[in-house]
Parts: sequence; structure tokens; C-alpha cells
Amino acid sequence: MKAVVWHAIGDIRLDDVPEPKIQDRYDAVVRITASAICGTDLHFVRGTMPGMAPGRILGHEAVGVVEEVGSGVRDFRPGDRVVVPSTVGCGSCSYCRAGYYAQCDRANPGGPQAGTVFFGGPEAAGGLDGLQAQYARVPYAHVGLVPLPDTVDDAQGVLLSDIYPTAWFGARLAEIGTGDTVAILGGGPVGQAAVACARLQGAGRIILVDGVPGRLDLAARQHAEVVDFNAEDPVEAIRELTGGIGVDRVVDAVGVDAQRPARGPAAEQAAGRAEQDERERARAAPDARPSGDTWVPGDAPSQAARWAVRAVAKAGTIGTVGVYPPRVETYPFGEAFMKNLTLKSGNCNHRAIVPHLVSLVAAGALDPSPLATRWPAVEDVIEAYASFDRREQGWTKVALDFGGEGRMPPASGEHAGSGAATTAGAGGTRAAGQGG
Ligand SMILES: NC(=O)c1ccc[n+]([C@@H]2O[C@H](COP(=O)([O-])OP(=O)(O)OC[C@H]3O[C@@H](n4cnc5c(N)ncnc54)[C@H](O)[C@@H]3O)[C@@H](O)[C@H]2O)c1
Ligand SMILES: [Zn+2]
Ligand SMILES: [Zn+2]
Repeated sequence: MKAVVWHAIGDIRLDDVPEPKIQDRYDAVVRITASAICGTDLHFVRGTMPGMAPGRILGHEAVGVVEEVGSGVRDFRPGDRVVVPSTVGCGSCSYCRAGYYAQCDRANPGGPQAGTVFFGGPEAAGGLDGLQAQYARVPYAHVGLVPLPDTVDDAQGVLLSDIYPTAWFGARLAEIGTGDTVAILGGGPVGQAAVACARLQGAGRIILVDGVPGRLDLAARQHAEVVDFNAEDPVEAIRELTGGIGVDRVVDAVGVDAQRPARGPAAEQAAGRAEQDERERARAAPDARPSGDTWVPGDAPSQAARWAVRAVAKAGTIGTVGVYPPRVETYPFGEAFMKNLTLKSGNCNHRAIVPHLVSLVAAGALDPSPLATRWPAVEDVIEAYASFDRREQGWTKVALDFGGEGRMPPASGEHAGSGAATTAGAGGTRAAGQGG
């Protein structure tokens, strides 16, 4: 079968590899119909998240059709359409039962302290092959897989695998409540989805910060107030927009590949930190192998964290879902302490959130599909990775048609591929015929 395979930092390929087989009675094999590329995959190729094994199949976002199940899987049959949540939990340990699926005690062969298990990640994340492939083996499938009704199509479903649950989780971590003023740092797929999720959770105002004009446009089309960190100092802009107080809540949807502002007043401020930023970058990505302007790690790993702490109001909350691996040890903790901030972070407990989001989509309260702005052929996947990495205009979220059945042509719906996620009230966003 075809699969995207990690060979080394800066070296990924579309390879022919053997199809996966059932190894355990709670396994399922899923035929992938749609997958997607995530900002997390970029960390592996840029070298900001260590520990990948050569030969590992990448990807942790997919929808598909159950092909085969082990004898312990009583709730799924071949032919069922499913979302595959990115992280894996056993469903039986005390953490899973409390909804902390990403902190499962049993799923990681390295033991209870070894960390979150997810598809297509480093060896420390369980060493599981990923979902950017024609078929995938899903452990604990009886717990992990989430059934998809026919009214939710592949374009919607694939965004419920990781991006929307993570954005939802980030908004919950940030403790967004009715009427809150919220800042979202990062306008990548997770940040864009966080606009819709923050709104569904009651946010009164939403301010989104990024430095890429096309991504700011998308957020503005979702009616977020946008701040370009290459044109304004984002902390000053947020204070000005909030009567000097700051925002009640922040969602950090950037993580370790954060960038310094390249121009404008914030760049002048950041100039004094050049050496410190470079030390942090060297520590975060010691083995980076950029090729020209591709696979370049972020040049200021703690930049988003610093802006979050400064832009939030006293006694406010920061929810961090942008990924910071253990090598990142810089956080403005003293400043956060002095402001009585609440800091929450971590890997999304996907399995606890995906079913609710499937219901919201089925009920017409949320349509995530417009965020899938590119839908390249599988043969073009490596070029697509590079375009997404360089944040080229229009390459906000890349979905991959692994099924090759054209189930999800990107331009079939009125708003499909337009980039703007739509929440209740947008109306008419599901074109007739999309997903039946
Ligand atoms: N916690 C989880 O479970 C989980 C799940 C999925 C993704 N993630 C993480 O979420 C983050 C975002 O994912 P994505 O797919 O949207 O990635 P992405 O790389 O497409 O988006 C990151 C965005 O941040 C912007 N940015 C860079 N520096 C910035 C700064 N200093 N201030 C504000 N914005 C800045 C970039 O321009 C880009 O638009 C990644 O770190 C990813 O690993 C975490
Ligand atoms: Zn992801
Ligand atoms: Zn568990």
C-alpha cells in the first residue's frame, strides 16, 4: 500500500509498504478514505519534536471504513464508517475512565509514565504507524473508533479526528465562559478551528494573532478581530482592544515552532532577545536540516508563551495546546505567577470530545469542512507537505484523498475549501449532495 514514511529530519517520502495486520484481539484494520497533514507532523520533519524512528508511517488524522476487527471488538463490523481519533487509550484504566484518554496508563508499551500514545509519532508515543496510508491498524479499536453517520461526510469527519477536538479542548483548558474576551495565538488549522469552538463555548469577543496575511484573512472571515504581529505589537494591540485590561482567556495554538516577528514594532522589541531566542532554538531543534525555506524550525520557541502571559488579564487563564516537547524548558513563569494566572496545557483527550463534535456536525451546528483548503492527490503529498510547511497562500489545512474515490471533492460544497469554519447561524453551508 501507499504511505507517507518518515526517513529522517527533512526527509519524508511516499513509499510502498506492507499492509497492516490484526495483532491483538482489540485491534481493527481500517481502510483510510481521507487523511490530513497536521502542524504536529511538521515538528517531526523540522526536527523540533525528537525521537522518530526511520520507517515510521506518519499521520494521525483519518476517517475510513472498518476492514477487519479482532475477536474482542464487539461494537464495530467491517463496512462501518469511522473517525480515528489521533490519540489512543485503553478505555479501562482510571485515567481513561475519567476522560483523560491522552494519559492512559496502559496503551503505551513504555509503561504508565511513558506519555501520550498517538498514531505516526515518536517511539516514546508508543511507536504506532500512522494514518497517512491506505490502511492502518488501530489498537483498542473497541474504545477508540467513533462511528460516523452518513450525514457527516469525509471532509467534515477528517477534521474531527484531531483539529476540531484539539481546538475544543484548548478552549476548555482556557476556561472560556459566556461573554469572555478571548485571544487565540496562531491562525493555523488549530487556531482557525478554535475560533469556531470558542464561539460555541460562549466567547463574547475573539482576537486572533498570526503573522501570515492569508491566515489572518481566514480568521477575519470567521469574524474574529485579527492582529498581524508583523505590523503591530500584539500585546499592545490586545491591550488597546480591551480597554487596557487584556483578554480574559488565551488559547496558545502555536507551540515550539513559534516565530519572532520579522518586521514592525514587535520586531524592534524582540531584537534584544536574539541571542536568547537562538539558544532556545538550538536546544529545541539541534538536528534541524532545513532545505532553503522548507523545514525551517521556528526561531523563537517561547515567543507565543511570552505573548500569552503578557496579553492575558490579571487572574486570567491560558490554555496551551500548541505542542512543547520536554526539551523546551523556557516559560515566563514568574510573570504568570505575579498575575495570579491559571495555566492549563496538554495533549487533547480526543476520544472524550470527538463523539460530541460528531453530534454537533450531524445536527448542523458546526461545519468544519471549509477549513480543508487543499485536497491534493496522494501522489503529490510530499509537495503538499512542503507547501503547508512554508505556509503558502491557501495551504491552511491539507486533506488527503487516500480512498481515491472522490468521496470528498473539495469544491463540492458552497463553502468547501473556502477556509472559513462555519458555526450555527451561518446557514446553507452544506450543499445538497455533499455526504448524502
Ligand atoms: N495538544 C494537542 O493535542 C495538539 C493536537 C494537534 C495539534 N497540536 C499542535 O497545535 C499547534 C498548531 O497546529 P497547526 O496544525 O495549526 O499548525 P501550523 O503550523 O499550521 O500553525 C501554527 C500557526 O502559528 C503561527 N505562528 C508562528 N509563530 C507565532 C507567534 N509567535 N504568535 C502567533 N502565531 C504564530 C504560524 O504562522 C501558523 O499559522 C502545533 O504545535 C501542533 O503540534 C496539538
Ligand atoms: Zn495533529
Ligand atoms: Zn487507559
